[in-house]
Amino acid sequence: MVSFSAGQEAARRLLEGRQRYTCLAGGTRSGKTFLIVRMIMLRALKAKGSRHAILRHHANAAWASIALDTLPHVVEHCFPSVRLKEHRQDGYFALPNGSRVWIGGLDDNDRVEKILGLEYASVFLNEASQIPYSSALIAFTRLAQVTRGIRQHAFVDLNPAGKSHWTNVATRPRRSMK
Ligand SMILES: Nc1ncnc2c1ncn2[C@@H]1O[C@H](COP(=O)(O)OP(=O)(O)OP(=O)(O)O)[C@@H](O)[C@H]1O
Ligand SMILES: [Mg+2]
Repeated sequence: MVSFSAGQEAARRLLEGRQRYTCLAGGTRSGKTFLIVRMIMLRALKAKGSRHAILRHHANAAWASIALDTLPHVVEHCFPSVRLKEHRQDGYFALPNGSRVWIGGLDDNDRVEKILGLEYASVFLNEASQIPYSSALIAFTRLAQVTRGIRQHAFVDLNPAGKSHWTNVATRPRRSMK
């Protein structure tokens, strides 16, 4: 059974809101990525056949931190009965209901074309302070899959960045997890 810190609990409620963009900003190990990956799993389970992209700047870091760490951790704690099928070559995990969770980097031209050739119900930019605004804008254009049961939603997480960083200007509302 999963439990949340007070900061995570407030952020969890925010993530369930009807807004299109949500950014979680907070210190390292405060549980931002865990919460957003959990929300993506909930959304993928709710809307069968839906697609969800989890993107970092570097593809290697995305696979190492999300596919091999956060995602298995979230499944173990929050969805112990759900079996994910890994399609490493194609860069995604398949859920039993046909939904798919892609994990990739925005630095890898071949892969990025493949990933961004699809439309998604969720786009999550992980560690967004490392992602250039131009790449973020391109990724957000792929937030376009129409599904039954869930609204399109972009998620962003980052460690606090400078006031002029695009995440301080372009994503509302934000939730600080200090
Ligand atoms: N509610 C929870 N229950 C169980 N484990 C959790 C929970 N929240 C977070 N964790 C685990 O705690 C660790 C830190 O969480 P997470 O990676 O989400 O933090 P973060 O805020 O994204 O950190 P960073 O800024 O370094 O990326 C991870 O191993 C994660 O799986
Ligand atoms: Mg994180």
